[in-house]
Amino acid sequence: LRSCAAALAALSILFSSTALGADGPIVIKFSHVVADDTPKGKGALLFKKLAEERLAGQVQVEVYSNSKLYGDADEMQALLDNKVQMLAPSLSKFDPYTKQLQVFDLPFLFDDAEAVKRFQKREASNKLLNSMSGHGIYGLAYWNNGLKQLSATHALHQPEDAAGLSFRVQPSKVLESQFEALNAKTVRLSFSEVFKALQDGTVQGAENPWSNIASQKLHTVQPYITESNHGMLNYMLITNSKFWLGIPFAVRSELEGIIQEVTQAVNNEAEALNRRDRERILASGTQVLSLTPEERQRWREKMRPVWEAYEAEIGADVIRAAQAVNR
Ligand code: LMR
Repeated sequence: LRSCAAALAALSILFSSTALGADGPIVIKFSHVVADDTPKGKGALLFKKLAEERLAGQVQVEVYSNSKLYGDADEMQALLDNKVQMLAPSLSKFDPYTKQLQVFDLPFLFDDAEAVKRFQKREASNKLLNSMSGHGIYGLAYWNNGLKQLSATHALHQPEDAAGLSFRVQPSKVLESQFEALNAKTVRLSFSEVFKALQDGTVQGAENPWSNIASQKLHTVQPYITESNHGMLNYMLITNSKFWLGIPFAVRSELEGIIQEVTQAVNNEAEALNRRDRERILASGTQVLSLTPEERQRWREKMRPVWEAYEAEIGADVIRAAQAVNR
């Protein structure tokens, strides 16, 4: 009789805790460093919307934009500690975890954004999604922003014009080498520090896609922007492997389907958002300098030696696979 009572008590606790939702929905905290009205910001919000619609009661997504919860300095550790479950850092921020992703930073490697998209569909790119699994980082997808432009306190027409200036860089050795090739200096800064550093003159220049320039108002503290299109800013949507694989299979499959859909939307819309922001910047009176094909070729020649310097770390096969997507 006693064991029967105990079983009943256990059952009632089970039911009441289910009714009270003690198990609750799975909470996914998605932290990022840019504004909501950017390719990544919109992607995060679309993921939240679709996940909460299709997995109502089972999944809840909290989006923290603009480095509100974690910034560049601490977001990776927060993911590893499962304090946050999703991030989409730029591929330039994974140096401590894998060297192979550096391929995406090689200047002038891809002809345009379409070439990058083609590369991301190839086997070599797919493998790179797994390149940080040893660290407990699970790569879910590539999200793209746009081609980077050089902004500065001076007009940069020729590569020599950048000599001596100090540029803000993401924490990437390839990007540092790219500016060293111009005899320029670099300072590694978190994204949230860029506006102030440009405003107070800590650095005189930066490289960003139009969407990040416009949403952070960087053009208000940088009188010149050279439309160099010299590289691309891409992200990897990542999660904590242990957390992800702990999600019940059916829910995880649904989430992965949603991620595919959101990835397509982000990558289809990124160019239009960057075009829109370019127009806004032009309308604001900031001087946008375009390069003639000959001028662009000179920038390319100056920066091109960076490829060889990183070939051993990245792998010649990966660089070849990337080049093969140019038409
Ligand atoms: C940067 O630090 O410049 C970018 O990675 C910011 C971002 O996430 O777009």
